[in-house]
Amino acid sequence: MGLLNALSFGAGLLTGTQIGLRAVWQRAPRPHPRVLAGILEHPLRLKYRDPAQTLGPYGLAEGTRVLDLGCGTGLFTGEMARQVGASGVVHAVDIQAALLDRARQRVDDAGLAARVRFHHSGAYRLPLADESVDIAILIATFSEIPNSLLLLEELRRVLKPGGRIGISEEIPHPGYLPAPVVRTRLREAGFRYGGQQGNGFCYSLLYFKE
Ligand SMILES: C[S@@+](CC[C@H](N)C(=O)[O-])C[C@H]1O[C@@H](n2cnc3c(N)ncnc32)[C@H](O)[C@@H]1O
Repeated sequence: MGLLNALSFGAGLLTGTQIGLRAVWQRAPRPHPRVLAGILEHPLRLKYRDPAQTLGPYGLAEGTRVLDLGCGTGLFTGEMARQVGASGVVHAVDIQAALLDRARQRVDDAGLAARVRFHHSGAYRLPLADESVDIAILIATFSEIPNSLLLLEELRRVLKPGGRIGISEEIPHPGYLPAPVVRTRLREAGFRYGGQQGNGFCYSLLYFKE
């Protein structure tokens, strides 16, 4: 009985916290709190967020120039660096310096620092040249950026002609946007649909710059 009470208390607390966080997030999207950085690398998240599998739909290859927008603690940055090889480059961008430091450490530890440039920057004015990137990838980040229109305009500027945008969202994130909402925003911004993988819990979208 004691165990059952504890379990139902835990489940109630978790549900209450999720509902509260979602209510706050839907009112005003915000960057992932720095104190919760550990959640990004939690073993439960890794069960559905294996970096190589998550990046699979985006077709990174030797020499690709990638933008990892909202790189956070760099969970995916290192895998991107592995996939683009020595002739590729990953631009890892985040608005929070503390998370960027963790990402830099992770990439250093993996011996991949030469392939990654770190930028402490917001999404609306990226420190990247026009038409310099093959693909921009936003994992659990699109929903944190309040003005999708400004974001997508800036991505259009930095993407090469025919460049791609990869967006992946997951339900445990309190800002989670359902795929139809994201698809509408990309279509309205003039990007061409390239496909969707996954399911309502965790999905990936691919778009092309015309
Ligand atoms: C939920 S975390 C995801 C991090 C990483 N992509 C991952 O999946 O592990 C979202 C990240 O986007 C960053 N972010 C939020 N708004 C941003 C903005 N306007 N410009 C750049 N980065 C932003 C946050 O600081 C945070 O690190």
